[in-house]
Amino acid sequence: MAIPKTIQAEAGQLRQELNEHNYRYHVLDAPVITDQAYDKLFRRLQQLEQEYPELVSADSPTQRVGSEPASHFETVTHEVAMLSLDNAFDEEEMIAFDRRLRDKLDYQGQLAYCAEPKLDGLAVSLLYEGGELTRAATRGDGRSGENITANARTIASIPLRLLGEKVPDRIELRGEVYMEVEGFDALNQSQRQAGGKLFANPRNAAAGSLRLLDSRITASRPLTFCSYGIGLIEGVDLPPGQFQQMMYLREIGLPISRQIELLDSIDGCLDYYRRMLQQREQLAFDIDGVVFKLDDSELQRQAGFVSRAPRWAIAYKFPAQEVMTTLLDVDFQVGRTGALTPVARLEPVAVGGVMVSNATLHNMDEIERKDIRIGDVVIVRRAGDVIPEVVAPVVQQREGELPRPQMPERCPVCDSEVLQQPGQAAYRCMGGLVCAAQRKEAIKHFASRKAMDIEGLGDKLVEQMVEQGLIDSVADLYHLPQAQVAELPRMAEKSASNLLEALDQSKKTSLARFIYALGIREVGESTAESLAAYFGELEPLMDAGTETLQKVEDVGPVVADNIRHFFDQEKNRAIVEKLIAAGIHWPSIEVTQQAQTLEGKTYVISGTLEGLSRDQAASLLKARGARVSGSVSAKTSAVISGENPGSKVAKAEALGVEILDQAGFEALLGDDR
Ligand code: IVH
Repeated sequence: MAIPKTIQAEAGQLRQELNEHNYRYHVLDAPVITDQAYDKLFRRLQQLEQEYPELVSADSPTQRVGSEPASHFETVTHEVAMLSLDNAFDEEEMIAFDRRLRDKLDYQGQLAYCAEPKLDGLAVSLLYEGGELTRAATRGDGRSGENITANARTIASIPLRLLGEKVPDRIELRGEVYMEVEGFDALNQSQRQAGGKLFANPRNAAAGSLRLLDSRITASRPLTFCSYGIGLIEGVDLPPGQFQQMMYLREIGLPISRQIELLDSIDGCLDYYRRMLQQREQLAFDIDGVVFKLDDSELQRQAGFVSRAPRWAIAYKFPAQEVMTTLLDVDFQVGRTGALTPVARLEPVAVGGVMVSNATLHNMDEIERKDIRIGDVVIVRRAGDVIPEVVAPVVQQREGELPRPQMPERCPVCDSEVLQQPGQAAYRCMGGLVCAAQRKEAIKHFASRKAMDIEGLGDKLVEQMVEQGLIDSVADLYHLPQAQVAELPRMAEKSASNLLEALDQSKKTSLARFIYALGIREVGESTAESLAAYFGELEPLMDAGTETLQKVEDVGPVVADNIRHFFDQEKNRAIVEKLIAAGIHWPSIEVTQQAQTLEGKTYVISGTLEGLSRDQAASLLKARGARVSGSVSAKTSAVISGENPGSKVAKAEALGVEILDQAGFEALLGDDR
């Protein structure tokens, strides 16, 4: 079927517009339409190409989705070898480089250099013939690399067709494929969720993504490209300087560095380096130094090469942000809320110019997943201004069996029990009231309005008193020496005596407030009230087993566990006793403990009950001594069936187990609800 002229023209027009917009976005960094408007043009072109498949051309912006996986990569021989760079590590080496070059060239004045950041990705070569991308290759050993055209085509910032009036017949250019940090983090996040392999850094992620045999996967990876040099050109005369040549590349549609600058002397280079070192953290991508190239092409030719690097260019490297060192030990740090975090103790090493001897290991799951052992050589990384982290062990260097880090059974700060909450990665110290790591938070909570409501005892004052050694725990609050309180910053006789007065008044409280004030994990005000109402006194609460605790409204297995473990710590009990001895008291309350009318019975709940959640219904039954089970058996006393009951009711019928409707359930609970 012939394609109508109007359709051909529209497709051509769309392609040209889309290419322009790509250029404005990726090269000029100055888009003129919104993403949505771009998508609309894109979808229209896709639609035309679907209707008329003959319209599709290799350089169409729609052809970036990747293709069928290949079995291997073809080898490509570079027409002009891809060289590497000499490195300099300090100003002296830079000055020596410039002097060598001037001597070699017998040059009297200052040499001008073209400067750009050294991107941390991998070098590729792109070949354009008649303006069209015909081949992309990795650097390989410099002489030959791998043909990665299908993958390169999926990278949005690599133009499939060059633009403008000055497109050469042939051009082979060099540049770096890399990944921005944000894209890298997102990629690792989705790898983590999918249980896939994590990439150690953006460079590895870029290399791994570019060398995938399935270019459809490459298409989903956030890769970017930036050009930095020309290998070969035919059909166009290049301007005589590196900087102008880069401007030319930009003109024909290729992305170049936004940080590129032409500097008039070695001093300009040293200044550029310092500026980039400062900007490094703010850049969207990792750089490992800056590259300086003698600007003048004729002088470049005269300078020539030594072995496999040009004499006319140099990489001035930044201090490494990723280094190897030995993991000496793993300690555990206790946070304000009692969570224990593993911290790596390292053989001290400079990372990004800063000495590092500690690094975070995140949590035990992460240690296990990365298989980190004490004594391993590990990779340590500092990126941005975040805390250094242990990226991975260097397993190849491991000798013999090395011990795995173990979570201690007792808190390294206060020696209380350490427990992992079911379903949570974190381990916590159970010594809430005594643990020095948690004491400031514990005391602030104790004094707060909904707890003991100690007027005038704000967060700042608590911090000062702890720091000055006036108090170690909440129990000390009721034995404060007035004279010493008055001497604290921003305190005086009057405010000190007011505080002591407020403390005295706070002794008269309620059991619920007191329970809440203890700061047991996940025991909020309403749970504290339920506990107070159920037990009526402190002692039975302190001694209750987890089964009894779960009879209280709102108390599930996790909260019951927290309460039990809190009171299992001798030191917590000692503080509670001290507080009572100091005179804290409350009016006794009538216990609302239910008569255990359903003791020994087991119920199953199925379907929705009116005005009650399933948990609430279960609490009501448990409060009366019943057990609530999830499955029906011959031993089930009755199945309580609400709206839309499930298969449990059918099973009960089959087993001859009694079935109760909402009214039957209410009758079972009795009138004392
Ligand atoms: S120029 C003849 N410029 O660094 C000069 N290289 O250590 C060849 N690199 O293989 C390279 N950013 O992968 C040049 N602005 C830049 C660069 C750069 C990163 C990489 C490139 C090269 C390696 C050499």
